[in-house]
Order: sequence, then C-alpha cells, then structure tokens
Amino acid sequence: CKSNELEGITVLVTAGGTQENIDPVRYIGNRSSGKMGYAIAEQAARMGANVILISAPTSLAVPSGVDFVPVDSALSMQNAVESRYGEVDVVIMAAAVSDFRVLHKAEQKIKKMESMTLELVKNPDILQGLGAKKKHQILVGFAAETEHVIKYGQDKVIRKNLDMLVANDVSKSNAGFNVDTNEGYFLYPHKDPKEMPNMKKSELAHNIMKEVVELVKNK
Ligand code: PMT
Repeated sequence: CKSNELEGITVLVTAGGTQENIDPVRYIGNRSSGKMGYAIAEQAARMGANVILISAPTSLAVPSGVDFVPVDSALSMQNAVESRYGEVDVVIMAAAVSDFRVLHKAEQKIKKMESMTLELVKNPDILQGLGAKKKHQILVGFAAETEHVIKYGQDKVIRKNLDMLVANDVSKSNAGFNVDTNEGYFLYPHKDPKEMPNMKKSELAHNIMKEVVELVKNK
C-alpha cells in the first residue's frame, strides 16, 4: 500500500547475511537471503520514508527509491550503520550478522591440506552498540530463535535497549531464513507481545511498518 505516513522520516534498514572472509575466495556466511529486510525497505519507501538500505550481498533487486549501501562483513556493516546513525529516525536491523570473524585472513588462496584450524574472534554486536548510545532514534531488532522464542526475544529487547523486536522462529520450514513467508511475535519493552501468524514477508513488512508509524507518533 502507498501512503505518506512516514514522510520526512529517515529509516535505515539492514538486510542479508554478512560474509566473513577466510581468504580471497572463501568466506563464512549464513542462510539469510535478504528477503525480509528488502521487503521492509520497500514498504517503508511506499509509506513515504527516506530509506537507507545497508545490505550484505544478496541476489535480490534493489527496491526503487531507496539509498542503497552495499557491504560485506559485520565490521563493514557496523561502519556503514554507525556513520549514519546520527541522521536517522528509525533503525530496523533485519540483517543476520555473523557473531564471529576469522582472526587471521589469508592474503592468498589457502592450499589444500589434510586439516586446518580457523581461529575465530567475536564480532561487535551492532544493534547493542546502537542501543547503548540511543538518543532520538527508534530501534527495531529481529531475533532468530529456534526455541523459547518469546523469552529469548524479551531478553534481547532489554539487553539491546529496543523499542520493538520481531522474534521469528527459524526452526520452522515456512519461516525465517531464505523463504517467502515468516511468522513470530512483536515484542516491546512495556507492552504485551503481539502474535503474527504465518504470512508473506511483504505482508509482515507492512505490519512491522504500521507498528513503526505508531512508535514514531508516540515518540
Ligand atoms: O534474509 P531472509 O532470508 O529473509 O531471512 C530473514 C531473517 C531470518 C534473517 C530475519 O528475519 C532475522 O531474523 N534477522 C536477524 C537474524 C539474527 O542475526 O538474529 P540474532 O538473534 O542473532 O540477532 C538479534 C539482533 O541483533 C538482530 O536484529 C541482528 O541484526 C542484531 N545483531 C546480531 C549480531 C551482531 N553481531 N550484531 C547485530 O546487530
């Protein structure tokens, strides 16, 4: 649906799965297709927002009318998000950010060998960092859970200082990573959870953005 409910509002959306290089041709990644984040960016633009889409590599077409920022690793996504944080009103982190990166990236392609060990170090939690220095911004996170969806999601709302969190049960075959549908719960710091039944990601994106309109109004 088209409207002007978010006119004058800048919405930053992250999407896709970050890639952590091992050597020039290999990386550690995850199964995020970017579909959820791109659907949100598209819906936000339809509602009249200025949209910045910061995306890890995907095979999707960039939605029209968005300011597109391609990134690859968690650190490059963090850099792109943080350098724009001061000028945005809403951040929606739909990206699946790798929790680890390779400590010593090889400059040349690693040759075959019988076995090898990769040392991984923790990546920063981008969203938690934003929550810690939140001023006027509205922060919306996602939680990809396989059990205790509401409880683990609520913990993230508090830990990351969020205004809203979309907790999706990624153990289901028709929800979460790399499918066209999703379901779960909208969680808030001071309100009861809202259950979202299974629906197309475009529909869920519409529901998410309707909540964002309310959060912006009540700010
Ligand atoms: O891309 P699709 O194929 O459409 O799939 C959609 C999705 C399953 C990837 C999406 O709906 C989703 O759940 N995204 C968040 C996945 C995730 O990384 O969840 P998490 O529970 O590990 O992280 C919680 C929140 O913190 C997320 O908003 C995440 O973006 C953020 N995070 C996580 C780790 C990290 N180092 N930095 C972060 O900012």
